[in-house]
Amino acid sequence: MSRIVVTGGAGRLGRSLVVGLADAGHEVLSLDRRTSPALQREGITQRLADLSDAGAAASALAEARADALIHLAAIAVPFSAPEDVIMSTNAGMAVAVLGGAVRAGIPKVIAASSPTVLGYGAPTGWVPERFPLDETTPPRPWNAYALSKLLIEQTIGMLARQTGDAVRFAAFRPCYVIAPEEWAGAPTQQGHTVQERLDDPALAAPAIFNYVDARDVAAFADTLLGAMGDIPNGEVFFVGADDALAREPLAELIPRYFPGTERAAAALTGTAPAFSSAKAHRLLGWRPRHAWRDELVPTAAARS
Ligand SMILES: NC(=O)c1ccc[n+]([C@@H]2O[C@H](COP(=O)([O-])OP(=O)(O)OC[C@H]3O[C@@H](n4cnc5c(N)ncnc54)[C@H](O)[C@@H]3O)[C@@H](O)[C@H]2O)c1
Repeated sequence: MSRIVVTGGAGRLGRSLVVGLADAGHEVLSLDRRTSPALQREGITQRLADLSDAGAAASALAEARADALIHLAAIAVPFSAPEDVIMSTNAGMAVAVLGGAVRAGIPKVIAASSPTVLGYGAPTGWVPERFPLDETTPPRPWNAYALSKLLIEQTIGMLARQTGDAVRFAAFRPCYVIAPEEWAGAPTQQGHTVQERLDDPALAAPAIFNYVDARDVAAFADTLLGAMGDIPNGEVFFVGADDALAREPLAELIPRYFPGTERAAAALTGTAPAFSSAKAHRLLGWRPRHAWRDELVPTAAARS
């Protein structure tokens, strides 16, 4: 059992991550500027903190006496605030929290990045060399959210160069997170349901039809924490489902929404996803266990 601090623990991903880690036997402290009733149970403590205040972040982390930190707190939606605010909030908070964790002596430090670092959806076009996209695909962020996430990955590199292997670091890029209640019809991050994303491919196209069940991200984090001493320091991982959130093969769907990708997307036959989590499988032995075809609860409208 470890003592793990999760920033942003009251959020969409954080709630499942905190509960999953507590279920795995860890003692979890959520640092967030709000609390969640879903986290009111044994093994979980919630503490209110505004982590954009570097001093508050440092003292909360020093008091936590934790074995590991998972940093999720952020403005999590592109264009949900002015570009300069997203950049300064996410980047500033990452430097304060990740650096604060190192100074507090926390030996394992993990940060949430995002697949958006790759730059898909850029108004000037985006054509990758090949699919599936993976950790070797060059990042080309085109908005402040994506740039802030790339900077978070770079912050980990910066800190690793300061500490060497005395502190173990990793970052992960979760695909479009589906929390358990969203399979039954609760709105997803963009406001529509999973069913609506499947019925209208234009809704899932901006994320290139990627998704991941939040419980699989919790299992990924637990596996990563256990392996961090044995893998290279500062690794970045995609964390996604084994299939696409689509009813048609992506070889057909992707070129419809990303002109010029016909040749690269031709590899994505059947249910293949656009993003590969093969590295997480190879280095950590992690695989997603949840897929939309098993999890989706049809709504009354879809059944009739
Ligand atoms: N949801 C996704 O599909 C997705 C995909 C890729 C990456 N991510 C990343 O995963 C992380 C979690 O995403 P989410 O969907 O759970 O977001 P969310 O908005 O639901 O949760 C973020 C949490 O951070 C907290 N927070 C924000 N600013 C804070 C501050 N100054 N001090 C303390 N707490 C603060 C919020 O109160 C919230 O509870 C984010 O870093 C996001 O960028 C999410």
